[in-house]
Amino acid sequence: MKNSVYMTWAKQHAASSYNLANSGMLGCDLSDLTITLDDVALNGPNHEGYAPLKEAIAGLYGMGTDNVVPAQGTSMANFLAMATAIEPGDEVLVEQPTYEPLLAAARYLGAGIRRFSRRFENAWQIDPDEVRQLITPRTRLIVITSPHNPSGIVVEPDTMRQIAEAAAEAGAMMLVDEVYRDILFEEATPVNAHLGAHVMTTSSLTKSYGLSGLRCGWILCHPEFAERARRMNDLFGAVGSVPSDTLSIAAFRQIEKLEARSRALIEPNTRLVRQFLSEHEEFLECVVPSRSMIVFPRLKSHDDSEALYDRLRCYDTSIVPGKFFESPRHFRLGYVIRTADVETGLANLSRALKEMR
Ligand SMILES: Cc1ncc(COP(=O)(O)O)c(C=O)c1O
Repeated sequence: MKNSVYMTWAKQHAASSYNLANSGMLGCDLSDLTITLDDVALNGPNHEGYAPLKEAIAGLYGMGTDNVVPAQGTSMANFLAMATAIEPGDEVLVEQPTYEPLLAAARYLGAGIRRFSRRFENAWQIDPDEVRQLITPRTRLIVITSPHNPSGIVVEPDTMRQIAEAAAEAGAMMLVDEVYRDILFEEATPVNAHLGAHVMTTSSLTKSYGLSGLRCGWILCHPEFAERARRMNDLFGAVGSVPSDTLSIAAFRQIEKLEARSRALIEPNTRLVRQFLSEHEEFLECVVPSRSMIVFPRLKSHDDSEALYDRLRCYDTSIVPGKFFESPRHFRLGYVIRTADVETGLANLSRALKEMR
């Protein structure tokens, strides 16, 4: 079947009153943005991406407008980047575990997939030598999420540099999905597209800013690749939505206010999750990122986290079972919903863990 098993599950089974399956920032209301109807246009010159939007994206990440390919969310940015970079039969190296739609897209495009590990025991970091050893003359693309989905861990800058060097030597490209990067705030290093002409970064206004509804995503990449990706996009959406693009420009104009909103939710909720993890060491072990919206704890009991998910459903609470990340003993816990809902969700999780004992 041509689908992403995770995305299908997330659409059909993740929702609940205490939704700890949600990996991103609590969605904004209209009242979170200062906008008037004058900010919105219905139509406009957007054949190659709406120019003021490309300027806003380029400005925030220190790139030129030629480096920007707008797309519908990181989802479409990832697909577009992959569809542009690879041909059927090419080899793609993908981290394991990863965000499953990345794997599904590579598979759909007919790539041969080889995996390199991000292991819990190695604090979810990547061993650049392992990546180097997997590269063959057919390797065209290396795919990484940083911050990592599911663990929230950022790849060490030196590791990323070494992988970028190995890719360049092999004539391969790199795709770094950085959709969780912007909540690192002052801890964030420059986007990885700065590492070289063969490195692409994808992201959107979804996860860090709570603006999924705008579907404002992008690829940051070398201008030549950007041109190829725009031509590829002629086969897909062809052009973006101008009402969405103009609202997104309004969002970029007040990005500091949105960041403050995100920070005000992340900080108290992170404290709750850290306290929860330290109080439940009997049940769980976890590599806790210094900043994140998600964590990926492991059940010490060796149980499959699907049983935990089933039990939590009785309390109208959801998590993402680790099977979607090829790690059945783990589960992904997101915590940037309303603080009171995180508190109740964690209390329910505590109950469910004790019942399973
Ligand atoms: C790593 C990763 N990339 C992309 C996406 C999709 O983001 P968007 O809403 O921007 O399409 C997600 C959503 O969960 C994600 O976790």
